[in-house]
Amino acid sequence: MYRYAGITALVTGASKGLGVAYARELARRGADLVLVARSGDALRRVADEIQQEHGVDVTAEVADLADPDGVARLTAELDRQGRTIDLLVNNAGAGAIGPFLSSSLRRNVDSVELNAIALMSLTHVLGNRMAERGRGGIINVASTAAFQPMPYQASYAATKAFVLSFTEALAEELRGTGVRVMAAHPGATATAFFDATSATMNPAFTDAPEDVAVKTLDAFAKGAVNSYPGRAINRPATWLSRALPRTTVTRLTGRVNRATGLHRAQDLDVSP
Ligand SMILES: NC(=O)c1ccc[n+]([C@@H]2O[C@H](COP(=O)([O-])OP(=O)(O)OC[C@H]3O[C@@H](n4cnc5c(N)ncnc54)[C@H](OP(=O)(O)O)[C@@H]3O)[C@@H](O)[C@H]2O)c1
Repeated sequence: MYRYAGITALVTGASKGLGVAYARELARRGADLVLVARSGDALRRVADEIQQEHGVDVTAEVADLADPDGVARLTAELDRQGRTIDLLVNNAGAGAIGPFLSSSLRRNVDSVELNAIALMSLTHVLGNRMAERGRGGIINVASTAAFQPMPYQASYAATKAFVLSFTEALAEELRGTGVRVMAAHPGATATAFFDATSATMNPAFTDAPEDVAVKTLDAFAKGAVNSYPGRAINRPATWLSRALPRTTVTRLTGRVNRATGLHRAQDLDVSP
């Protein structure tokens, strides 16, 4: 059973939402933290609160991980501080919403940079150091969106499919090395994820980020390769999308997303 007490965990996207929940739950279990996001004020506020609540060491590192140099700058700063990261939680994520052709290409590209490229780059740099030490852990936050194409969230779901495939393959490559890798697949979770869009989440179908964080960390501690930390229906729903023909699944997903108005949704121009 993996123990969190005394480790140093780096959590990306920790200025709000699930990242804050992961950070709090890790601190409650005794981990020191390095928190990463773009919004310095919010990040430092979260860091101060967690440090006061749990008495662990918490450092805030401001970084734009969608910037092609973001990961290199962050890891250079960790090196300058002489920090060892025992657990990497690749949580930061974003996505364009609405019909692809009328959405901003920049927003789609940034989401690929953040959800896929930055996640892969951090895994490569920090994973190599973990492999040299013969121990460490990486939790990649994917989504139930990873398991099927999602019309009106097309590039977002594609990035999560990347995270799922990449993580499962890497978990197998590293099996037995002392470095473990797991993908987490939350379903709809009550965070600010849709705040920069015209879409909303139905509170009746969202899970609490605190519960998602607890279940994710419990699953990692038990050695899972995939974790389904939301409500019970989420995991069987992923079996359904693997059992049915892909065209059927995509049509069904499109129908559900049209029924919830995602075909009329759009991103709003909100800067971090
Ligand atoms: N909420 C859901 O329903 C849901 C469901 C399944 C999976 N997920 C996944 O869960 C993860 C967390 O999402 P959330 O719901 O907590 O979203 P959120 O409330 O929007 O938080 C996203 C976090 O990512 C950070 N971030 C965004 N762009 C960044 C960038 N370029 N560089 C560094 N940090 C950046 C944000 O901080 P700054 O803006 O300060 O940079 C924030 O801390 C994501 O990977 C998401 O895809 C969410």
